[in-house]
Amino acid sequence: MSTQPEIAPVVDAAHAEPFDAAEHYHAAIEQIRAAASAYYQGTDLAMDDATYDALLARLTATESAQPSWVAADSPTEVVAAGGGVVGDVEHSTPMLSLANVFDEEELRTWAARLDKVLGRPAAGYTVEPKIDGMAIAARYVDGELVQVATRGDGRAGEDVTAQARSVAGLPAALGRPVTVEVRGEVFMTDEDFARANELRTGHGGAPFANPRNAAAGTLRAQDRAYVAPLSFLAYAVHDLPDGEGLTHSAAMAAIAELGVSTTGGSAAGMASCTTVDELVAAITGLGTLRDKLGFDIDGVVIKADSPADRDAAGSSSRAPRWAIAYKFPADTRTSKLLGIDVQVGRTGVITPVAVIQAVQVGGVTVTSATLHNFDDLVRRDVRVGDTVFVRRAGEVIPEITGAKLDERAEDSVPFEAPSHCPRCGGEIDRSQKRWRCVQGRACGATESLAYFAARDSMDIEGLGDKVIRALVTAGMVTDPADLYSLDLEAVTQLDRMGATSATKLLANIEGSKTQALSRVLTGLGVRMTGRSMSRRLARHFASMEALCTATVEQLQEVEAVGPERAATIAAELADLAPVIAKLTERGINMLEPGVVPYAERMAAAADAAAVAIGELLPLQKPDGAPMTVVVTGSVPGLTRNEGNEAVEKLGGKSSGSVSKRTDLVVVGDGAGSKAAKAEELGLRIMPSDRFAALLAAHEAGDSPTLDNF
Ligand code: IVH
Repeated sequence: MSTQPEIAPVVDAAHAEPFDAAEHYHAAIEQIRAAASAYYQGTDLAMDDATYDALLARLTATESAQPSWVAADSPTEVVAAGGGVVGDVEHSTPMLSLANVFDEEELRTWAARLDKVLGRPAAGYTVEPKIDGMAIAARYVDGELVQVATRGDGRAGEDVTAQARSVAGLPAALGRPVTVEVRGEVFMTDEDFARANELRTGHGGAPFANPRNAAAGTLRAQDRAYVAPLSFLAYAVHDLPDGEGLTHSAAMAAIAELGVSTTGGSAAGMASCTTVDELVAAITGLGTLRDKLGFDIDGVVIKADSPADRDAAGSSSRAPRWAIAYKFPADTRTSKLLGIDVQVGRTGVITPVAVIQAVQVGGVTVTSATLHNFDDLVRRDVRVGDTVFVRRAGEVIPEITGAKLDERAEDSVPFEAPSHCPRCGGEIDRSQKRWRCVQGRACGATESLAYFAARDSMDIEGLGDKVIRALVTAGMVTDPADLYSLDLEAVTQLDRMGATSATKLLANIEGSKTQALSRVLTGLGVRMTGRSMSRRLARHFASMEALCTATVEQLQEVEAVGPERAATIAAELADLAPVIAKLTERGINMLEPGVVPYAERMAAAADAAAVAIGELLPLQKPDGAPMTVVVTGSVPGLTRNEGNEAVEKLGGKSSGSVSKRTDLVVVGDGAGSKAAKAEELGLRIMPSDRFAALLAAHEAGDSPTLDNF
């Protein structure tokens, strides 16, 4: 591409702008309603999650700025948020939604508000995954599953009892004859999603755009010729016998014991926390697990654990005040399809690759995504110019899961699949889903061997284009490793190849075995890397083994390797594994000279970090986190800026305003209301001359602690 695509605006629901005209506010309500209806029916994704959240946040912001505009049935207020499929199963109590927060600051505000409502600190919280599926309520009578209903409009839902009978985690009979209602999420694991799409396309249908749609579609489908696998995780229980007075965590443990799968029993688990700092740590922990769970979560749910706290906090018409969803960056977004590239892989597989307008997906900027195969592309009828759904799940390469057909331009034209291999012009074998150039590995062999032998790669003299072509045509070489088992006699037979040049050529090939790892890597032509990136990778990982076993996260330790490039490099290395193994077997050096092995370096770095934690700076908390410090009034010998710098030098974080969260207030001459507020709040106060002395001791190299000053 000649021009860099513009980055699509990243919606920031946390800092929403109110609408400036009532008509825009009302138009947004309509949009939200349509999207919510599609969401709860699970029929189609009318709007990606992040856009939906941002729009809803704008409605809320507008309503507080312009109270006179507020619509009586605003989606910010009503349970239904636009209404789903209302069935005839009335819920025992409304199935509420959850309010969202998007960062730590908002979480702290929510927790502070809860404490205020309670008039005391909340007794404790639980943290569990927010499953991205479809909510259901399941009724058991005397231990038998008798009725399952979707959320519907929150008050009544659709009966899906028959379809729900085969859902994993929702047993037909409980361990004991208990009458109880279990609520939770029906969803598809990544593995089941792949299986569901196989089944669906096998029956001539279009694949589902994402696991959530797939779960909703499957749950609501009747009389289907096949049954796609579904799973269930419970997150609430109602009317549990002897459940009165039980904490949320205890009630969930009780239904798990009866045989129901729960969010806490999943790979994500449930954490119990007492402070907001602990909540933040638990949320971060789940965030790092997100990619490895095998199913989609779109955030975590934080709940007050104690029933007394829940009763005291109560609920609004839309959501409980005792729970909050902390949303992670969305893993499905929409973007514009700018073009479709056709790539031919090393084995001759021909794949369509989408070039899209850059968009943030799961916190990463994505500019290209796989369209899987032509079969899929034709079935999904994705066209250049379409608004498409881009999904990035975990460490995998982003994919296009479908197009928004209602936004398609009238003059759009269907994509025309290539009639011949775009690399060699040869025939295409279309007998399988993954199309292949009939030449297979030989299709790109000449090109990739020339790259391997080139001056900047393995630098094999005498192995020019003509010789390579002759070797490939004679069927003697298809990949670089084949070069190292060439037979002198056979090479001598090649056209215009005398015994002397053949001997020389083989000696040069043999000599290249000791080239540095960086050159081997360059020669393999890993996509999204070149000479200098290959050097960087080789210097960082030191050995091919360490590089090939590195995770996508570890690959990002290398300068200029972001998530997109890391995922591509990992996929490329996996693709190259057979050739790499063959090269290793044939004695090609796989180490970077002069570099300490990666594992040793990482162990040394971990030791250094442990030492560093042992030696805390004076303004660090015991866990190494910085204290929040406010400097008010003058510090002897320092300007105001130097005072703030000193806080950072001593390991703290300087802040301009005093609040309950301030850990220390340094008070000097001329201090005003901030000092008074600090006293009022009972915060730790330090006179500025002692702070100056602490700084001096630190600068003299004396490892002072705050308590000594
Ligand atoms: S608690 C009254 N816990 O998220 C509170 N909900 O965006 C009920 N969800 O409608 C909700 N995982 O369908 C809760 N661990 C979890 C959840 C969860 C997913 C869904 C639920 C809810 C929606 C709100």
